[in-house]
Amino acid sequence: MAGAVRHFVFDAFGTLFDVHSAARGCAQIIGPQWPRVSEIWRNKQLEYSWIYAGIGRHMPFREATRQGLIYALEVTGLNMAMAREVLAAYSRLAPFAEVPEVLVTLKARGDKLAILSNGDTDMLDELVTNAGLTNLFDAVLSAEAAGTFKPAPQVYALCQRRFGVAASELTFMSSNRWDIAGARAFGMNPVWVNRSGAPDEYPDLAPVRIVGDLSALLDGAPEA
Ligand code: LAC
Repeated sequence: MAGAVRHFVFDAFGTLFDVHSAARGCAQIIGPQWPRVSEIWRNKQLEYSWIYAGIGRHMPFREATRQGLIYALEVTGLNMAMAREVLAAYSRLAPFAEVPEVLVTLKARGDKLAILSNGDTDMLDELVTNAGLTNLFDAVLSAEAAGTFKPAPQVYALCQRRFGVAASELTFMSSNRWDIAGARAFGMNPVWVNRSGAPDEYPDLAPVRIVGDLSALLDGAPEA
């Protein structure tokens, strides 16, 4: 007999999609500094989202992404002329290898799947379409609907309202430990997808489970 329907909510950037695949795919254009450019790009993109959330003003995540790349190219002394082509690669981020199979399997089991991301709606729609993951999600939820960014609780509340269930019935997957802290604070069941083997943080806001990648969801998925 099929088990109870479970609700799995996925962060997008770094969890479903490899943010470093944009710079990696443009390594010929960027040159040998592409890993450093990619790290600075990601860190600045996140910083801008947190700063604007703290100020109480929503900046489109696409703009935070653009400004983060410009900063990364400037600080590494690279030519701004490449920015347009490198930025375009961000709409074609590669899904991590296990993602399609995990989503298809969970969907086939009758589980409910959603994305909850700081990315703008059009960014997320592009990523899902370009990765061939259309029709696998019951909802694609963008922080722009809350007018702020994760880890603000208003953003996690979007998926609680969408599914009409208690936060404790939502299993939230993210590779970003700060995002896990936000989801735990909101009352969800966060699973930290520690892809990089990073040290743990936020000891007072712990995940319910730590996994290396999403395939762990198929071996006795955590109860929602
Ligand atoms: C996301 C980024 C912040 O929300 O990881 O998808």
